[in-house]
Amino acid sequence: GPNDFDLYRPSEEHEMLRESVRALAEAKIAPFAAEVDEQGRFPQEALDALVANDLHAVHVPESCGGAGADALATVVVIEEVARVCASSSLIPAVNKLGSLPVVLAGSEELKQKYLAPLARGEAMFSYCLSEPDAGSDAAGMKTRAVRDGDSWVLNGVKRWITNAGVSDYYTVMAVTDPEKRSRGISAFVVEKGDTGVSFGAPEKKLGIKGSPTREVYFDNVRIPADRMIGAEGTGFATAMQTLDHTRITIAAQALGIAQGALDYAKGYVTERKQFGKPIGDFQGVQFMLADMAMKLAAARQLTYAAAARSERVTLGGSGKDEQLTFYGAAAKCYASDAAMEITTDAVQLLGGYGYTRDYPLERMMRDAKITQIYEGTNQIQRIVMARNLP
Ligand code: CAA
Repeated sequence: GPNDFDLYRPSEEHEMLRESVRALAEAKIAPFAAEVDEQGRFPQEALDALVANDLHAVHVPESCGGAGADALATVVVIEEVARVCASSSLIPAVNKLGSLPVVLAGSEELKQKYLAPLARGEAMFSYCLSEPDAGSDAAGMKTRAVRDGDSWVLNGVKRWITNAGVSDYYTVMAVTDPEKRSRGISAFVVEKGDTGVSFGAPEKKLGIKGSPTREVYFDNVRIPADRMIGAEGTGFATAMQTLDHTRITIAAQALGIAQGALDYAKGYVTERKQFGKPIGDFQGVQFMLADMAMKLAAARQLTYAAAARSERVTLGGSGKDEQLTFYGAAAKCYASDAAMEITTDAVQLLGGYGYTRDYPLERMMRDAKITQIYEGTNQIQRIVMARNLP
């Protein structure tokens, strides 16, 4: 209805937030983006700047000591960080992904214990769903949790874990009843310091090189029973509900990367002269920029509409919301495809210069690629959309 439209229009506060995050990102994060990519190192400067300004995990509810930002504000923060450094934008994004299961389904004790340090910037959160042989088919996981008295004992391997090793807390989905497939999966909070937790070598990736991606190993990890998130057997549903909300943050990354590429290309074509005039005077170049801006505007509107739905569902409590499931998948799929097209065209507009590391566009193009893959490939998003058509 008409109210939906009002809901996703950014307010004056959202625009003020955007201005302040943009200024911070340009001053404190952008200067390190090329070096972080080149050296494949964690963007500590970005983490410090985000924590100092309380922007590292804005989604944490006020009742748990957080800023209590709405889903659209979270999108704006991630967009503006991704506009200068996609690797750094994984700090607020994965903090939301890792901790949202606790927000949505955790006990009051778990919330206070794990969300308060996250909100204070003392700990980061990662999300452990995928395994070497269970990616798109997440319910095919093998990691096992067995009850033993007042504890659960975890054994298994998780793969592609963003910010692994840097995060202190891990939401881990594990099989508690192998007979029941997805209804036999439960979610737990595991700490980096729990005995038996270790990490694989960092993956050597095409992009987002500043954000470590590693395997996480669980070797007889014994944790107290109250670390279970929600009821036994609800872990898969919680994991899917979480992705419904957080695929929107991947869309936000895609928007930010694409905006960064468009802004750079727009400036370049006014400076670069060929045939006696700026190349931006040629209609062929103007048409490319028009298409890029059009795709970005459409992707942004869909993402903001999805964020409005995410907000309503968070406020409304738990359960599956088919509209949110559709919109979350659609926003992630559409915005990531748009980002790949826009960054590729931005490289093209710079010609040979765009292909070198002396300019930021090849990095943006490499970073954009992951948004079509993680939190579910865009082929999986189409399965999700088709099963939840509005
Ligand atoms: N909300 C709540 N419950 C949901 C749900 C949702 N969005 N989606 C599914 N469920 C429930 C279903 O209702 C069903 O419950 P019942 O058995 O009680 O009816 C149960 O979960 C199983 O659902 P499906 O039968 O649909 O399950 P499936 O095996 O066919 O899988 C899938 C569905 C959509 C393909 C799912 O496996 C999927 O999303 N795969 C992709 C996984 C993914 O996105 N991985 C990304 C990893 S995270 C990442 O990339 C992190 C990073 O570090 C950045």
